[in-house]
Amino acid sequence: MKLVILLCLCGLISTQAGVVKEGNECTGVTINGVYYDAETLREGLDRPYLLAVDYSTNNLYFSYNVKENEDFFKSARLNLNTKEFHNIEDISNGFAQTVDQVTHDVYIGGSDGIYKYNFGENKAELIGEKGSNIWSLYFKDVLYYSVFPAQFLYILEDGQGRRFVDLEDTKVDQFVIDNQDDIFFSNATGLFSQKKGTKDAVLYLESPVLRSLTTDKNGNAYACLQDGIYTIKKSSTSLEKVLEVDDAFGLAFDVDNNIVYSDATRLVRLKVNKHKKC
Ligand SMILES: *[C@@H]1O[C@H](CO)[C@@H](O)[C@H](O)[C@H]1NC(C)=O
Repeated sequence: MKLVILLCLCGLISTQAGVVKEGNECTGVTINGVYYDAETLREGLDRPYLLAVDYSTNNLYFSYNVKENEDFFKSARLNLNTKEFHNIEDISNGFAQTVDQVTHDVYIGGSDGIYKYNFGENKAELIGEKGSNIWSLYFKDVLYYSVFPAQFLYILEDGQGRRFVDLEDTKVDQFVIDNQDDIFFSNATGLFSQKKGTKDAVLYLESPVLRSLTTDKNGNAYACLQDGIYTIKKSSTSLEKVLEVDDAFGLAFDVDNNIVYSDATRLVRLKVNKHKKC
């Protein structure tokens, strides 16, 4: 049933969580007493997924489904300053995106390998795992990736993959590393944290409908579940909802550390508006 709940930030329990305001003026959300305008960046997309922002160009990379009732994906980029949109055509089934924020290299995983994407020339070059169906990519110091359907985590070095030893005994779905070298990862069992360099996983949440994990510009970890966006509270080993979203898919932060998220059809940015009293 396709309801008109495009930005469903409704029905909230927690006072800290985002709340939709009535009336024409206040169509954004309030989080922790701060008002945000909700800006639709693009709509009419089928499940925009695995969002990543290159802070050097403020371009958002993501993938979305391009065939109705089938899973066939395409990577695309959207300039967060101008909203200019481009499909990335020369990667078959472009699915996973990540950015090295130091060198500003953009990596994209498709159904036949890992590519490095050249923004200036709009060209992609195969750099590893030729012929493999890439499930996830994540860059922090090195390029981590997993391959479908096995979902074990590897590190790509000089075109060669090797297992990431910290997580060699487990399947990995989503994966990030925060600013304190805490790994957060999910698999069919749950959402876990593990200090990098150790093998001791701590359970945060059992079998969540987790859509993505990400870090903000300061390296703090966030989780996107089907029902909204959560901060990860390490002191209490728990998640705290900051924004209710109906059928959320992806999450990233832009160069100004604004939340950018996707639901089943749209990409939305929340921008702080200090002048509005809502
Ligand atoms: C998920 O990770 C946890 C912690 O490492 C592990 O105990 C569990 O077996 C893993 N589940 C799967 C399906 O790999």
